[in-house]
Amino acid sequence: MKNFKIPNHVGIILDGNGRWATSRNLKRSEGHKAGYKNLKKLSVHILNKGVKILSVFVFSTENFKRSEEEVGYLMNLMVKKFRMDAKYFMKNNVKVVFSGRRDGLRKDVLDSMDYLVDLTKDNTNGIFNICLNYGSRSEIVDMTKKIAEKYKNNEIDLDDIDEELVSKNLYNDLGDIDFLIRTSGEQRISNFMLWQISYSEIYFPETYFPDFDNKEFDKSLEIYNNRDRRFGGVNYDTKTN
Ligand code: IPE
Ligand code: MG
Repeated sequence: MKNFKIPNHVGIILDGNGRWATSRNLKRSEGHKAGYKNLKKLSVHILNKGVKILSVFVFSTENFKRSEEEVGYLMNLMVKKFRMDAKYFMKNNVKVVFSGRRDGLRKDVLDSMDYLVDLTKDNTNGIFNICLNYGSRSEIVDMTKKIAEKYKNNEIDLDDIDEELVSKNLYNDLGDIDFLIRTSGEQRISNFMLWQISYSEIYFPETYFPDFDNKEFDKSLEIYNNRDRRFGGVNYDTKTN
């Protein structure tokens, strides 16, 4: 039997919280609550499987277009949970980082993020990268500004600009995503980590996020293992065309 491959970096675009709730005659906020509860367990499960980095898209810059009530609910939920679950992430030795623009986020949200990041910064059982107020195009714009600033201050030459420098100046330098999952059957990328998914295997399960549990993730890993990753090359050992 071939070795079972564990992806180094997994990305999840979590989707379907609202539909999960409405299909049960519940309010959308109940779906977000159930989604967070699932994410808490799932994140630790994934990192315990040997995945080194988990990036999740929890709130996009575009999500601010939703009603004040829904955005407010989500922000309050995060403030509460980031503080309440800090102990849980400590116990599981998970290092939490955030990707996204700080501009536009409430002060109490920023404070709870900083609290969690600071507390977990020395943990070693994997990195949980929470993409909040995140947009990939904004990330690329912000990276370009950072590099331009360094160029202006003579910290770098034009010749220093290469893929490595670009990666280093993203919100976090976490490397390529090997396996990207978007739940709920939607088959879109929606401005998520465009630079990092260049060679990702992508999987679109039908399951709404609150039901995408540890077992569903393990099934996804089987699917990942059946993919033949060639990075533009040819695998002469297997049939490829
Ligand atoms: C994902 O679920 C959570 C966030 C984007 C905050 P949705 O809220 O997008 O759920 P649907 O797509 O309406 O079902
Ligand atoms: Mg959605």
